[in-house]
Amino acid sequence: MGSSGIKISTIGFGCMSLSSNSEKESIALIHHAIESGINYFDTADLYDKGLNEIVVGKALKEKRNKIVLASKAGNQWRKDGSGWDWNPRKTYILQAAEDSLKRLQTDYIDLYQLHGGTIDDPIDETIEAFEQLKQQGKIRQYGISSIRPNVISEYCKRSAIVSVMMQYSVADRRPEEHILALLQEHNISVLARGALAQGLLVNKPAKEYLNYSKEEIAIIKQAVNDVSGKYRTPGQTAIQYVLRHPAVASAVTGIRNQQQLEEAVAPAVPLLKEEFQLLQEAVRPNVYEQHRTDH
Ligand SMILES: NC(=O)c1ccc[n+]([C@@H]2O[C@H](COP(=O)([O-])OP(=O)(O)OC[C@H]3O[C@@H](n4cnc5c(N)ncnc54)[C@H](OP(=O)(O)O)[C@@H]3O)[C@@H](O)[C@H]2O)c1
Repeated sequence: MGSSGIKISTIGFGCMSLSSNSEKESIALIHHAIESGINYFDTADLYDKGLNEIVVGKALKEKRNKIVLASKAGNQWRKDGSGWDWNPRKTYILQAAEDSLKRLQTDYIDLYQLHGGTIDDPIDETIEAFEQLKQQGKIRQYGISSIRPNVISEYCKRSAIVSVMMQYSVADRRPEEHILALLQEHNISVLARGALAQGLLVNKPAKEYLNYSKEEIAIIKQAVNDVSGKYRTPGQTAIQYVLRHPAVASAVTGIRNQQQLEEAVAPAVPLLKEEFQLLQEAVRPNVYEQHRTDH
């Protein structure tokens, strides 16, 4: 992961997908994932109002030194539980980290991420919070989770982030315009989420997605299917697409059941150049329309 020396599996486990499972099912699935070679687990204090961290903490307690644990902060639940507000202030991030450590039943988080961010944030103050947590040994490294080029660019310049989590898939090629190359240049790893577009690229009916029409999504899905077959399932093709870029360290996949786990971890043949090209040529690439660095 970036310059950190921390090694993570190319398939990461996105724990947000566990929310509809019982605690027992989730814990068993996480244990199977570790046995299958996954060592990277992504959660956040936001998911299920902290319950996701509690379940992940229970599952990983006995396996702590075998895995790389990532969580996120910055979204503060309102006292009445009606929603959350963005809060990148230092005092809040420091407190949020203490709360996450308790829920996760650990004394350190391997990768602590700012869960969003805007260009109007007090960025230096936010960075100070992460640096302080690192100095105290409460986190090993920090990163951000953002799809905003202007925010990512500021953190590249001003902070010691080792990673950026962002949505990236055949159906969301916005990072390809500029951001993947920028991060590669800075030796900052991309943790790609949404490689399956929540299943849209695999087995869910096509629908409008970002600025793609239902018809365009159907074409992309067909292209994914066309380059799959004996050596790769469509799900594996969608994952291999994002792993092809050297900036991407892990495809953090939302895994909900054993079948999805098995498919994600099964050996898959990387995409051939022609297959990659076919996917890229299926429809026009999309680009970020907001939060750009050039306007
Ligand atoms: N802003 C942020 O920081 C942010 C935002 C979103 C997500 N995340 C993180 O990234 C992770 C992944 O994101 P995501 O869930 O949006 O994206 P994703 O990995 O594209 O979608 C996960 C969903 O895809 C379906 N799926 C999984 N494996 C499949 C397979 N083999 N075949 C067909 N469908 C399959 C499942 O849907 P069903 O449950 O319907 O079966 C699963 O819930 C999350 O778990 C979370 O940890 C972070």
